[in-house]
Amino acid sequence: MWRYSSVLPDVKPVTLGEGWTPMLPSRRFPNVFLKEEGANPTSTFKARGLALAVTMARHYGLKKLAVPSAGNAAGALAAYAAAAGIEAHIFMPKDVPFANYVEAVVYGAKINLIDGLISDCGRIVAERKEKEGWFDISTLKEPFRVEGKKTMGYELVEQLGWEYPDAVFYPTGGGVGLIGMWKSFSELEELGWVRPGKRPRMIAVQSSGCAPVARAFEQGANVSQMWQNAATFAAGLRVPKPYGDSIMLEILRESGGVALAVSDEQILASLVDWARHEGIFLSPEGAAATASYDHLLATGFLKSEDRVVLFNTGGGLKYTDVTAEAMGLQRPAPQA
Ligand SMILES: Cc1ncc(COP(=O)(O)O)c(C=O)c1O
Repeated sequence: MWRYSSVLPDVKPVTLGEGWTPMLPSRRFPNVFLKEEGANPTSTFKARGLALAVTMARHYGLKKLAVPSAGNAAGALAAYAAAAGIEAHIFMPKDVPFANYVEAVVYGAKINLIDGLISDCGRIVAERKEKEGWFDISTLKEPFRVEGKKTMGYELVEQLGWEYPDAVFYPTGGGVGLIGMWKSFSELEELGWVRPGKRPRMIAVQSSGCAPVARAFEQGANVSQMWQNAATFAAGLRVPKPYGDSIMLEILRESGGVALAVSDEQILASLVDWARHEGIFLSPEGAAATASYDHLLATGFLKSEDRVVLFNTGGGLKYTDVTAEAMGLQRPAPQA
């Protein structure tokens, strides 16, 4: 992502090779492109934000970082903190995908598994950070994660020949990628790096097991309400009350986009469909985007001629336990 260093802070990066991920044309839908963020270090787009946040933390001489996470941000922080020689204190739900636990252990992070959701993790970090001497690296409470994520907007425009697509589908938890991409569009226009044209409709995709932004959008509200009993196997979407909800809702409306929720059954069906017909093992969050595309085509909100980018925000192989459970899959006994 450092190919865009001219629009990033001018400091020596802590890098593991994040960004410039493939933009894969669909084999079945001529105007659909899948942005494969599973190709990042730690297999998710969270690498971009944490690469920049840890870069700046090292630049400022911070020694202990703490993060509340749905799982993948914790893994990314653990990796970049290890690379930078900084302590990572991570707080994540006790039932995160197993890969998130294992990666945190392997990278040597200080792990706190919480009987609750990311919102509970955020509260605990806020309560303890002063006494413990941690810098809180929660999304939108420091400025750099969103700067790292904005590189997704630069990349998608560059990879489409410096042109906007008609729509961008973004699996939304805290919404930082969506906010970062929208910021990148303003910058691209100011720099004259994008051919003049209409900005894409931004589509925030959630699971019906946790859809605070979709509900607020539908109700015409400017902020979301805490989603009770959030539950979905798309673990990254289990954010019951995103901190940046009002910014997201404004962007969705300004872009002529929409926020919508699909069920875990639809997500799983789309995940299997893309694996079998495209050879791509999506994360459940990415499969929420592909399922939503099918839905918005069926409703006529989008047409098949519309050029769209669907974000697969993580690699499916990080989710073998939760995906197997959703499929009711168990390893069979050997046959001989
Ligand atoms: C794979 C994946 N997709 C999407 C999201 C949601 O990202 P954001 O919080 O930027 O909306 C997450 C967050 O944990 C995630 O891990």
